[in-house]
Formats: sequence, structure tokens, C-alpha cells
Amino acid sequence: DWTPQSFVEESVADLKEKLGNDRVVLGLSGGVDSSVAAMLLHKAIGENLYCIFVNNGLLRKNEFHDVLDQYKDMGLNVKGVDASARFLDALAGLSDPEEKRKAIGRVFIEVFDDEAHEITDVKWLAQGTIYPDIIESVSATGGPSVTIKSHHNVGGLPDFMKLKIVEPLKALFKDEVRRVGASMDMDKDLLGRHPFPGPGLAIRILGDITAEKVRILQEVDAVFIGNLRKWNLYDSVWQAGAILLPVNSVGVMGDERTYEKCVALRAVESTDGMTADWVNLPYEFLQKTSNEIINKVKGVNRVVYDISSKPPATIEWE
Ligand code: XMP
Repeated sequence: DWTPQSFVEESVADLKEKLGNDRVVLGLSGGVDSSVAAMLLHKAIGENLYCIFVNNGLLRKNEFHDVLDQYKDMGLNVKGVDASARFLDALAGLSDPEEKRKAIGRVFIEVFDDEAHEITDVKWLAQGTIYPDIIESVSATGGPSVTIKSHHNVGGLPDFMKLKIVEPLKALFKDEVRRVGASMDMDKDLLGRHPFPGPGLAIRILGDITAEKVRILQEVDAVFIGNLRKWNLYDSVWQAGAILLPVNSVGVMGDERTYEKCVALRAVESTDGMTADWVNLPYEFLQKTSNEIINKVKGVNRVVYDISSKPPATIEWE
């Protein structure tokens, strides 16, 4: 019988045997899969696991520091690399969603490769791949696309991709990954986190990206997600986030006309992201959240709620 405890015991034993005293590098994303993979490897090989957590500047508000602290509290040997400026530079002037994804994928590979080179004698690249990732990479669903493979095509492989690969979760489904994490006493909030796309807020800022737009969207998203938590709605939603629209609309403030940004809020129910229904959030929640966003976030004067399901509307707007 499969139990999370027996999975952990067997995996740790297997990993110990397979990896011996070798050094392993792993990219943490802040998500459930890479975090659980890291924890398993940590149990097996301790300090020989070198984790790298890259801030691409497109994470949620405060996420880089909060999650980095959390990783350190878990005892992981982790290096946080703030490469925000490098990503923003590479994105400057790009509006096409696929161009944006490619730029982010490219810079990620460069940053990760530089960091992996800092680790003497590293032999393995660990990844938090789970079973559905393997299926999805065949079926092109628009799922994880800041994967290393899809965007690296010129100039030969970066060195870290020549490493041997270890994927301790590749036979598991998401709910099993969560149970494995829980059985290792990992933080409930970390294990319950909503999925978040690799390109992050870059694909929720429609059109071109600037530091100011990232700031605005981070503020809006923080109010929305914070309120979902406050109202105990976070766990009943599969994924939620805010989208910064490339339109300004007219508003009034006192005697003045404003001409400012419009944001969309999106919350969906789903089991695997392949299909999704918009969530019927309480009107009172929407009302309070909208007021709070407009009052608190400078530059936004209008909030709309996305009531489209997938298919045909995808979860992300880009
Ligand atoms: P869509 O928008 O295709 O999203 O309905 C399905 C799931 O995939 C996530 N998503 C991405 N994840 N890189 C990622 O790592 C991407 O480029 C990407 N695009 C979409 C999306 O957030 C949802 O969970």
C-alpha cells in the first residue's frame, strides 16, 4: 500500500544510495513541487543539496524574501539570487506573450548556469517534475513553459543541463506530493499554495512590462490574495490572481477626472488546470476587495471580475 511515510522512507534510501556523496543542484520556485523535492533530497543528502532560488522580479509582493526565509527555516542549503533587474532589462519593450516567456526562460537559464558554476564539482541536477508534467510536456497545453527544454535552442546546452538528472517526484500526482510534504512536517501554507506560472506577473501584465506596472500589480494581487485568506476562501480556490489590463479608463476623484489603470481579478476552481470554472465569490467579498484596491493602490481606478471558464478562456490572459 502506498503511504506518504513509506514513500519518504523508500525515496530517501534510494536517493542516498544513488547520490552517495555527490553534490546536487536544484532550482527552487517557491511552489509545492520543487519545495517537496528539496525536502526529500535534504533528508537524504543534507548539505550536499545546493538550492538556488532566483528572484525574477515577477513574483508576488514580498514573496522572494518571505519564501527564502521559510526555506532557511526548513534547514535547506539555499542561495537566494536577486536577478530582478536582469529580467526587467531583458523584458523591456517586449509585448508579445511568447517573446516575454522566451526572454524570461533565457535569462533564467543564464542566471542558473552562472550559479551552478559556483558549486564545485556538482554532479546532478534535481527537478521537482511530477507525473502530470511528463504527460503535459507531450500534449502542449500551455502548462509549464519556462522549462529549460522549450526555450533553449542556440549555442549548445548550458553546462548545468549536462548534469545527470534526478527527479524524486516523477511518479506522483499533485495531491500525493502534498501528502508527502505533510508527512515531512512541511508548512501547511507552503503545501497549500496556489499554482503560479513560471513567468509570474509578466504574463499577467498584458503588453509591455515596466517596474511601475509590476509594483501596481503586486499591490493589487496582495490585497486580493490577502482578502481570500482573511475570508477563508483561499483553500477553496484552485488558483487566483490579478491581471493588469492595457487600458486606462476614466474615473472621478473629488472634482477631478482621473484616467487610470483597470485590473481584472480571476479565481478558478480546477483539478489539473486543463479545464477550470470561475469561482462564484461572494458579492460582499468582491465589493470590499474592489474598494480596498481602488483606495489603496495608486494608479488603479477600476476593478472587474473575470467570469469566463476554460475552455475556451484560459486561466491566464496571455
Ligand atoms: P492556462 O492559462 O493555459 O494555464 O489555462 C494552465 C495552468 O498553467 C499555468 N501556466 C504556466 N505555467 N509557465 C508556467 O510555468 C507558463 O508559461 C504558463 N502559462 C500558464 C497557469 O498559471 C495555470 O496554472
